[in-house]
Amino acid sequence: MVKISPSLLSADFGNLKADLDKINRSAADWLHIDIMDGVFTDKATNNCNDLLAVTKNVNKPKDVHLMVIDIKKYTDIFSKINPNYLTFHLEATDNPREIIDYIKSKNIKVGIAINPQTAAENLVPYLADLDLVLVMSVEAGAGGQTFIDISDKIKFLANYRQQNNLNYIIEVDGGINPEVIDKVKNADMVVVGSFITNGNIKKQIEKIRRFI
Ligand code: DX5
Ligand code: ZN
Repeated sequence: MVKISPSLLSADFGNLKADLDKINRSAADWLHIDIMDGVFTDKATNNCNDLLAVTKNVNKPKDVHLMVIDIKKYTDIFSKINPNYLTFHLEATDNPREIIDYIKSKNIKVGIAINPQTAAENLVPYLADLDLVLVMSVEAGAGGQTFIDISDKIKFLANYRQQNNLNYIIEVDGGINPEVIDKVKNADMVVVGSFITNGNIKKQIEKIRRFI
């Protein structure tokens, strides 16, 4: 079964605590926490302190998606909520190896994300050291965008994992709803943002659950 990791990026920040309570009580498997610095992305996450305070009590495993240039700084900040996975962008650094080691030194599992225009082959030098690969199916930076078909990247990463006896999780993020779910059925985990926050969170999660 494909795991569901809801994102509250497009939700009303005023309701953050109530929405997280709904996710806690839902069929979601994980919680996806999006962090943007306004440099790697156009928009910035302005409520980092609120996020730190309220996500501490979430009872789902947490996967933090860092869309930032200063990856070490945000690793230090978000390691405080005991995330299960910290994921950074391949496009955001010249030295992915150093960042992998830095995140692992904090006893947190590490992932690398790639934007739609980055080839999955560019990840090959790092795949043996990763716990997760995040394939973006929209350009990182905003919720509610249209899904881009990245099924070839999922196929490549799944084959490579099998051939090399690796075990990273393949996660897909962006534009996911029941209409495109067939394209991501071979992933291990999908992030679902605006589809669930544009309605009753618990019911929308149940709805997407029926398809995967
Ligand atoms: C986009 C974020 C996503 C986003 C997903 O930059 O990384 O996690 O919140 O939201 P939807 O599902 O609306 O594309
Ligand atoms: Zn994300």
